[in-house]
Amino acid sequence: MTLPNKTLSIAILSGKGGVGKTNIALNLSYCLFKAGHPLLLMDCDIGLANLDVLLGIAPEKTIQDLVDEDMPLQEIVLPLARGFDLLPAASGVPELLELDDDARDHLFERLRPLFSRYDFAFMDLGAGISPTVLSFAAMSHVRVVVVTPEPTSLTDSYALIKVLATQHGLREFHVVVNMAESPAEEREAFHRLNATCERFLGFSVTYLGGIALDKHVPDAVRKQSPLMKLSPTSDAARDIMAVAVKLAKLREARLPELAQEQALRPLTQPHKNIHKTSPDATGLGIQENE
Ligand SMILES: Nc1ncnc2c1ncn2[C@@H]1O[C@H](COP(=O)(O)OP(=O)(O)OP(=O)(O)O)[C@@H](O)[C@H]1O
Ligand SMILES: [Mg+2]
Repeated sequence: MTLPNKTLSIAILSGKGGVGKTNIALNLSYCLFKAGHPLLLMDCDIGLANLDVLLGIAPEKTIQDLVDEDMPLQEIVLPLARGFDLLPAASGVPELLELDDDARDHLFERLRPLFSRYDFAFMDLGAGISPTVLSFAAMSHVRVVVVTPEPTSLTDSYALIKVLATQHGLREFHVVVNMAESPAEEREAFHRLNATCERFLGFSVTYLGGIALDKHVPDAVRKQSPLMKLSPTSDAARDIMAVAVKLAKLREARLPELAQEQALRPLTQPHKNIHKTSPDATGLGIQENE
């Protein structure tokens, strides 16, 4: 008999790179692990891994071994603490940046049984709209889109949401605004993205919270240790904690629904009906049809 699923899988994604995904994935994971949730943190930035660097570790085995060889999962998963596991990715392996369809399917099949052991499975994805990113995002229960107030971040996030909505029929997105200089700037960034999604895609996105621009974040990166551990009372740590609390509540509320699902949802075939674009009307600097 298989037990009902209890894992909430969460993909951390962004249109533009360098917006804080890896730091957010690591520190949200750390908070939820500390709150007593068994948790898997997976470096899905295949070929350009970063989580190992933020943690100051050099894993011997990586997700590449899962793709290339049928190595047992337990040899690859790295326990950071009891109940806090890391699935590392390989760095500097260009051929891994984009997996072909068969390699991707094989990887997903191998990951499925692993995921179900945890309360949360976080996937730190690469930036942009590569097929691997889109597949992981589509198979997760929750998609957290990280944006900054920069116009380029907002336009690229909108493009990412649009591709996921049109190709995979997804309409639920949670937004974190990172590195704003004030709460007003955070709200303004969210409002612009949300208004564009409402107008051109016909659905709203959900605000999960803002994370302050805080020099403690790069300090923690330099010291290769999680911000929540080094500076738990910093502004950014306080904000990340608030997002973690929301995610814990979201999981709690969805447990009955999750029990009917798999930890990684089956991948639906991408739809091909991507909208044609026309002169800019979005106000985000994007060419778009209404
Ligand atoms: N709230 C913050 N305040 C200040 N600096 C931040 C904050 N969040 C992230 N940073 C800085 O931004 C940089 C990029 O962060 P990070 O590597 O987490 O981004 P990313 O989205 O994962 O990038 P990539 O797309 O390359 O994977 C880091 O140098 C980090 O220190
Ligand atoms: Mg990253």
